[in-house]
Amino acid sequence: MSKIDFLKTFIKDRDVASITPTSLHCVKRVCTHIDFSKDLTLVEYGPGDGVFSRFILGKMSANSKLILIELNEDFYKHLKDTIKDPRVEIHNTRAGDVEKALSPELIGNVDYVLSGIPFSFLEKSRKRIVLTATKNILKEGGLFLAYQTSGHLKKPVMEVFGNLETEREILNIPPYLIYRVVKNGVR
Ligand SMILES: C[S@@+](CC[C@H](N)C(=O)[O-])C[C@H]1O[C@@H](n2cnc3c(N)ncnc32)[C@H](O)[C@@H]1O
Repeated sequence: MSKIDFLKTFIKDRDVASITPTSLHCVKRVCTHIDFSKDLTLVEYGPGDGVFSRFILGKMSANSKLILIELNEDFYKHLKDTIKDPRVEIHNTRAGDVEKALSPELIGNVDYVLSGIPFSFLEKSRKRIVLTATKNILKEGGLFLAYQTSGHLKKPVMEVFGNLETEREILNIPPYLIYRVVKNGVR
Protein backbone atom coordinates (compact mmCIF):
# COMPACT_ATOMS: atom_id res chain seq x y z
CA MET A 1 0.00 0.00 0.00
CA SER A 2 1.35 3.46 -0.86
CA LYS A 3 1.97 6.03 1.88
CA ILE A 4 -0.82 8.16 0.37
CA ASP A 5 -3.31 5.26 0.61
CA PHE A 6 -2.22 4.64 4.21
CA LEU A 7 -2.81 8.33 4.97
CA LYS A 8 -6.27 8.15 3.32
CA THR A 9 -7.15 5.18 5.54
CA PHE A 10 -6.02 7.18 8.56
CA ILE A 11 -8.23 10.12 7.53
CA LYS A 12 -11.30 7.84 7.23
CA ASP A 13 -10.72 5.89 10.45
CA ARG A 14 -9.38 7.40 13.68
CA ASP A 15 -8.54 3.92 15.03
CA VAL A 16 -5.71 3.75 12.48
CA ALA A 17 -3.98 6.28 14.78
CA SER A 18 -0.87 6.82 12.66
CA ILE A 19 -0.36 8.75 9.42
CA THR A 20 2.30 6.42 8.11
CA PRO A 21 3.40 2.78 8.57
CA THR A 22 6.02 1.98 11.21
CA SER A 23 9.61 2.52 10.01
CA LEU A 24 11.64 -0.54 9.05
CA HIS A 25 14.16 0.48 11.71
CA CYS A 26 11.45 0.29 14.39
CA VAL A 27 10.02 -2.97 12.98
CA LYS A 28 13.48 -4.58 13.25
CA ARG A 29 13.96 -3.23 16.76
CA VAL A 30 10.65 -4.67 18.04
CA CYS A 31 11.37 -7.99 16.31
CA THR A 32 14.74 -8.41 18.05
CA HIS A 33 12.60 -9.75 20.92
CA ILE A 34 11.37 -12.66 18.76
CA ASP A 35 13.36 -15.89 18.55
CA PHE A 36 12.87 -16.93 14.93
CA SER A 37 15.07 -20.04 15.27
CA LYS A 38 12.04 -22.02 16.55
CA ASP A 39 8.66 -22.89 15.03
CA LEU A 40 6.34 -20.18 16.35
CA THR A 41 2.72 -19.21 16.66
CA LEU A 42 2.52 -15.45 16.51
CA VAL A 43 -0.59 -13.26 16.70
CA GLU A 44 -0.47 -9.66 15.45
CA TYR A 45 -3.10 -7.06 16.42
CA GLY A 46 -3.51 -4.11 14.05
CA PRO A 47 -1.17 -5.15 11.22
CA GLY A 48 -2.33 -2.18 9.09
CA ASP A 49 -0.78 -2.53 5.65
CA GLY A 50 1.40 -5.41 6.90
CA VAL A 51 4.77 -3.79 7.49
CA PHE A 52 5.50 -6.04 10.51
CA SER A 53 3.73 -9.05 9.01
CA ARG A 54 5.93 -9.11 5.89
CA PHE A 55 9.11 -8.72 7.91
CA ILE A 56 8.05 -11.55 10.23
CA LEU A 57 7.14 -13.82 7.30
CA GLY A 58 10.62 -13.28 5.91
CA LYS A 59 12.12 -14.50 9.19
CA MET A 60 9.85 -17.24 10.50
CA SER A 61 10.20 -20.96 9.77
CA ALA A 62 8.09 -22.97 7.31
CA ASN A 63 6.12 -24.55 10.16
CA SER A 64 5.39 -21.30 11.97
CA LYS A 65 2.01 -19.60 11.96
CA LEU A 66 1.07 -15.90 11.82
CA ILE A 67 -2.47 -14.82 12.71
CA LEU A 68 -3.45 -11.27 11.80
CA ILE A 69 -6.27 -9.48 13.64
CA GLU A 70 -7.21 -6.27 11.80
CA LEU A 71 -10.32 -4.17 12.52
CA ASN A 72 -10.16 -1.78 9.58
CA GLU A 73 -11.86 -3.27 6.53
CA ASP A 74 -9.68 -1.51 3.94
CA PHE A 75 -6.51 -2.82 5.60
CA TYR A 76 -8.10 -6.27 5.97
CA LYS A 77 -8.90 -6.41 2.23
CA HIS A 78 -5.42 -5.16 1.35
CA LEU A 79 -3.83 -7.86 3.52
CA LYS A 80 -6.08 -10.54 2.00
CA ASP A 81 -5.21 -9.40 -1.54
CA THR A 82 -1.47 -9.09 -1.05
CA ILE A 83 -0.40 -11.74 1.48
CA LYS A 84 -0.73 -15.19 -0.07
CA ASP A 85 1.15 -17.40 2.33
CA PRO A 86 -0.10 -20.70 3.76
CA ARG A 87 1.40 -19.79 7.15
CA VAL A 88 -0.96 -16.80 7.51
CA GLU A 89 -4.55 -16.45 8.73
CA ILE A 90 -6.25 -13.05 8.48
CA HIS A 91 -9.30 -12.01 10.53
CA ASN A 92 -11.39 -8.85 10.21
CA THR A 93 -12.20 -8.42 13.87
CA ARG A 94 -11.13 -6.53 17.00
CA ALA A 95 -8.27 -7.56 19.25
CA GLY A 96 -10.67 -8.01 22.19
CA ASP A 97 -12.34 -10.85 20.24
CA VAL A 98 -9.12 -12.73 19.52
CA GLU A 99 -10.23 -15.77 21.52
CA LYS A 100 -13.21 -16.24 19.17
CA ALA A 101 -10.99 -15.88 16.08
CA LEU A 102 -8.36 -18.44 17.12
CA SER A 103 -8.94 -22.16 16.79
CA PRO A 104 -9.39 -23.73 20.26
CA GLU A 105 -6.09 -25.63 20.22
CA LEU A 106 -4.19 -22.34 19.94
CA ILE A 107 -5.65 -20.84 23.12
CA GLY A 108 -2.85 -20.91 25.69
CA ASN A 109 -0.29 -21.95 23.06
CA VAL A 110 0.67 -18.69 21.38
CA ASP A 111 4.38 -17.77 21.60
CA TYR A 112 4.12 -14.06 20.83
CA VAL A 113 1.40 -11.42 20.61
CA LEU A 114 2.55 -8.31 18.79
CA SER A 115 0.33 -5.25 19.02
CA GLY A 116 0.18 -1.91 17.24
CA ILE A 117 -3.38 -1.00 18.20
CA PRO A 118 -3.87 2.40 19.86
CA PHE A 119 -4.70 1.27 23.40
CA SER A 120 -4.96 4.92 24.47
CA PHE A 121 -8.23 5.16 22.46
CA LEU A 122 -9.81 2.31 24.42
CA GLU A 123 -11.79 2.78 27.59
CA LYS A 124 -10.34 1.25 30.74
CA SER A 125 -12.67 -1.76 30.61
CA ARG A 126 -11.86 -2.44 26.91
CA LYS A 127 -8.13 -2.24 27.62
CA ARG A 128 -8.58 -4.85 30.29
CA ILE A 129 -10.59 -7.09 27.95
CA VAL A 130 -7.82 -6.99 25.32
CA LEU A 131 -5.04 -7.57 27.87
CA THR A 132 -6.88 -10.44 29.57
CA ALA A 133 -7.62 -12.11 26.21
CA THR A 134 -3.95 -11.67 25.32
CA LYS A 135 -2.86 -13.34 28.53
CA ASN A 136 -5.33 -16.19 27.91
CA ILE A 137 -4.02 -16.98 24.42
CA LEU A 138 -0.32 -16.81 25.32
CA LYS A 139 1.51 -19.89 26.56
CA GLU A 140 3.43 -19.80 29.85
CA GLY A 141 6.54 -17.71 29.18
CA GLY A 142 4.99 -16.27 26.00
CA LEU A 143 5.68 -12.62 25.19
CA PHE A 144 3.37 -9.69 24.63
CA LEU A 145 5.15 -7.01 22.58
CA ALA A 146 3.40 -3.67 22.06
CA TYR A 147 4.51 -0.40 20.51
CA GLN A 148 2.66 2.63 21.87
CA THR A 149 3.15 6.38 21.82
CA SER A 150 3.46 6.71 25.60
CA GLY A 151 3.54 5.01 29.00
CA HIS A 152 -0.28 4.99 29.45
CA LEU A 153 -0.38 1.19 29.15
CA LYS A 154 1.99 0.52 32.06
CA LYS A 155 -0.67 0.49 34.78
CA PRO A 156 -3.19 -1.79 33.01
CA VAL A 157 -0.38 -4.15 31.91
CA MET A 158 0.91 -4.38 35.48
CA GLU A 159 -2.62 -5.12 36.72
CA VAL A 160 -3.11 -7.99 34.27
CA PHE A 161 0.42 -9.40 33.77
CA GLY A 162 2.34 -8.14 36.84
CA ASN A 163 5.52 -7.34 34.89
CA LEU A 164 6.85 -5.21 32.06
CA GLU A 165 9.96 -3.71 30.52
CA THR A 166 9.94 -0.73 28.19
CA GLU A 167 12.38 0.85 25.77
CA ARG A 168 12.07 3.99 23.68
CA GLU A 169 12.40 4.08 19.89
CA ILE A 170 12.69 7.60 18.56
CA LEU A 171 13.49 6.77 14.93
CA ASN A 172 9.83 6.53 14.00
CA ILE A 173 6.89 8.86 13.34
CA PRO A 174 5.51 8.98 16.00
CA PRO A 175 8.28 7.91 18.44
CA TYR A 176 7.25 4.69 20.19
CA LEU A 177 7.61 3.13 23.60
CA ILE A 178 8.11 -0.61 23.13
CA TYR A 179 6.58 -2.81 25.84
CA ARG A 180 7.92 -6.30 26.54
CA VAL A 181 5.68 -8.31 28.84
CA VAL A 182 5.95 -11.98 29.89
CA LYS A 183 3.02 -14.24 30.72
CA ASN A 184 3.63 -15.55 34.25
CA GLY A 185 7.14 -14.70 35.22
CA VAL A 186 10.57 -14.90 33.74
CA ARG A 187 11.38 -16.13 30.24
C1 LIG B 1 -0.83 2.63 14.50
S1 LIG B 1 -1.59 1.59 13.26
C2 LIG B 1 -0.30 0.37 13.08
C3 LIG B 1 -0.31 -0.25 11.72
C4 LIG B 1 0.89 -1.16 11.43
N1 LIG B 1 0.98 -2.26 12.37
C5 LIG B 1 2.19 -0.40 11.45
O1 LIG B 1 3.01 -0.65 12.35
O2 LIG B 1 2.39 0.43 10.56
C6 LIG B 1 -2.86 0.78 14.23
C7 LIG B 1 -3.57 -0.38 13.53
O3 LIG B 1 -4.43 -1.02 14.48
C8 LIG B 1 -5.71 -1.26 13.88
N2 LIG B 1 -6.66 -1.33 14.98
C9 LIG B 1 -7.10 -0.32 15.78
N3 LIG B 1 -7.87 -0.79 16.76
C10 LIG B 1 -7.92 -2.14 16.59
C11 LIG B 1 -8.55 -3.21 17.31
N4 LIG B 1 -9.29 -2.97 18.40
N5 LIG B 1 -8.37 -4.47 16.89
C12 LIG B 1 -7.62 -4.74 15.77
N6 LIG B 1 -7.02 -3.77 15.04
C13 LIG B 1 -7.15 -2.50 15.46
C14 LIG B 1 -5.88 -0.08 12.93
O4 LIG B 1 -6.84 -0.32 11.94
C15 LIG B 1 -4.44 0.00 12.37
O5 LIG B 1 -4.25 -0.93 11.34
